[in-house]
Amino acid sequence: MVDEKVGHEVHLKQLPVGFPTENNFEFVRVSVPVPKQGEFLVRNIWMSVDPYMRGRMNKTKSHLPSFQLNKPLEGACVGQVLESKNNQFKVGDYLLSNFGWREYWLSMDGSGITKVDPNMAPIQSYLGVLGMTGLTAYIGILKVGELKENNHDCTVFVSAASGAVGSVACQIAKIKGCHVVGSAGSLKKVKWLLDQARIDYAFNYKEVGEDNISSELKKSCPNGIDVYFDNVGGKHLEAALDNMKMF
Ligand SMILES: NC(=O)c1ccc[n+]([C@@H]2O[C@H](COP(=O)([O-])OP(=O)(O)OC[C@H]3O[C@@H](n4cnc5c(N)ncnc54)[C@H](OP(=O)(O)O)[C@@H]3O)[C@@H](O)[C@H]2O)c1
Repeated sequence: MVDEKVGHEVHLKQLPVGFPTENNFEFVRVSVPVPKQGEFLVRNIWMSVDPYMRGRMNKTKSHLPSFQLNKPLEGACVGQVLESKNNQFKVGDYLLSNFGWREYWLSMDGSGITKVDPNMAPIQSYLGVLGMTGLTAYIGILKVGELKENNHDCTVFVSAASGAVGSVACQIAKIKGCHVVGSAGSLKKVKWLLDQARIDYAFNYKEVGEDNISSELKKSCPNGIDVYFDNVGGKHLEAALDNMKMF
């Protein structure tokens, strides 16, 4: 008798109301399929849990479909090919895919999957700075914000500045020579922004008070803001608009 391989998946059992709890999810044992001709089997190593996933746990219409009940959730992950009957994907290859929330997955044809190079950076970087979050910051700050080299006259304000996207946006803006100001929700995050990301000014919006963000920006961006990288909207957006440079 051949031993059957068993894997685990996390399924969405019921739609959360408010903050998700453990009861909304189920840890399910499943048998792992054996690849047929043209298929390959992958074991996940890293996965990313992102804020946007909460939106997919609602029934409302959005740019992405809702997660299905009693099925594994989806999300970015990096895994390694364990068995392969597909010439394009060899045993040992590292792959970035959207088949997170499960230990093993089988691909029929390799569509929607990207090979990643473990020699370039630690493989988990492809879920962060070299993945969707890094790309979001890169496109936002360079393509939309149009930062140029040696932008010493340019002031950039970033909200949720120590977050996955914000932290990369801040560091790119610093590389481009900008005066960079960031807001975050704790002293520890503010310290990280100043000591590690090396931005020019950071403040804790909870300590300052949301109604005082505008005056904090007046002080830290005396020439006005050229580019606001908005991660949160609300009072931060209003305060940033109050302080934009006049062109
Ligand atoms: N992750 C992606 O790949 C991706 C892709 C496209 C778009 N986005 C968008 O980019 C933005 C940032 O995403 P992220 O993945 O970087 O998230 P993140 O790292 O989790 O950052 C979110 C942070 O926002 C801050 N925050 C939450 N509520 C706030 C409020 N009411 N006022 C001010 N700050 C608040 C919190 O930080 P504090 O503790 O500092 O308050 C929280 O940690 C989101 O709008 C997201 O939808 C993300």
